[in-house]
Amino acid sequence: MRAAAFTDLVGPDGVSVIEQPDPEPAPGEAVVSVEACSINRHDLWILEGDSAMVDADDLPFVSGLDVAGTVERIGEDVTGVAPGDRVVLCPNRTCGTCQFCREGPENLCETFSLYHGGLAEEARVRADRLVPLPDDVGAVEAAALPTAYVTAYHMLRRIEAGPSDLVFVPGATGGVGVAGVQLAATLGARSVGTSSSRAKLDRLESLGLDHAVESTDPDEIRDAVTDVGTVDGVLNHLGGAYTQLGLDVVRRGGRMAVCGRTAGGTSEIDITDLFLGHKRVIGSTMGTQGDLETLVGLVAEGALTPEIDGTYALDETGAAFEAMQERESVGKIVVTP
Ligand SMILES: NC(=O)c1ccc[n+]([C@@H]2O[C@H](COP(=O)([O-])OP(=O)(O)OC[C@H]3O[C@@H](n4cnc5c(N)ncnc54)[C@H](OP(=O)(O)O)[C@@H]3O)[C@@H](O)[C@H]2O)c1
Ligand SMILES: [Zn+2]
Repeated sequence: MRAAAFTDLVGPDGVSVIEQPDPEPAPGEAVVSVEACSINRHDLWILEGDSAMVDADDLPFVSGLDVAGTVERIGEDVTGVAPGDRVVLCPNRTCGTCQFCREGPENLCETFSLYHGGLAEEARVRADRLVPLPDDVGAVEAAALPTAYVTAYHMLRRIEAGPSDLVFVPGATGGVGVAGVQLAATLGARSVGTSSSRAKLDRLESLGLDHAVESTDPDEIRDAVTDVGTVDGVLNHLGGAYTQLGLDVVRRGGRMAVCGRTAGGTSEIDITDLFLGHKRVIGSTMGTQGDLETLVGLVAEGALTPEIDGTYALDETGAAFEAMQERESVGKIVVTP
């Protein structure tokens, strides 16, 4: 089978399509014929050599977390799925025995890690991590969900977003950002989001963004968001200067969930304002398989349509990463092996 592997950690030019042996499922595993695999900034960082997880010794490396397709073969002891089933993968890898695996939520597992290998014609996965897809949920839409939408959904749960709340989403046009805007709307919350691009914000307004701020300047954004109203919760996937900005605009007792570091891995914050304002900063990573099942259900009901910026053939995977790197896209970028 063919795989779009990272053969050099130099950015999009480091992707090559290579031949690999067809995978055989071990006990408890299934092999999925990959119809769609969305990409995330997590994959781009690996490709740019900016991840401690993968170095030159690990090459060629096949990335890709968000697999949707059809079960081809199953190993021994697999009962939940059968060849021919349409499925989407929850990429969580957990130990199954620690306190958090026993009592939940599973994404707090002490040895939590993620599946990689979906940027290929076939993916060998744990069968109990496959979520069935109803007929009316397409593979491309489904592949948008496991990382970006689940992460945004879990963050909205952590900030307890509810009807009429105002949610601030800095960097609202990417995978997690668009998901945050769309899912806030499904919860009855209003959103204010930022981007460096007016054209991207125009697209986002048609997807449910209530208030758009075109700026990358924290002072300008602070003023514009304050003019909109009092923020109840913040979805912060940018880090850097956006952490204090989020704390500046959030109300007393308000909450900010943080899941990323696109704008910087360290943030300086005003401690006095944090404690006098009773504000909460909440770290959050991915979500649970139950979150993914909920989102598949929302798509099946027609309550959520994941925003897909474009689809790319397997041998165009480098171009898919280039679109992400150049900040050209709105929503998810999907490779269709
Ligand atoms: N912890 C977790 O479980 C988890 C899960 C998913 C994602 N994440 C993290 O969340 C972040 C977003 O991931 P993603 O896949 O959604 O990425 P993405 O699609 O590439 O996000 C693009 C968004 O980020 C903005 N952006 C890009 N570079 C920026 C910069 N230097 N300064 C300010 N804004 C910038 C873009 O703004 P413009 O519109 O201005 O271009 C756009 O709104 C990443 O840090 C990722 O690692 C974490
Ligand atoms: Zn565990």
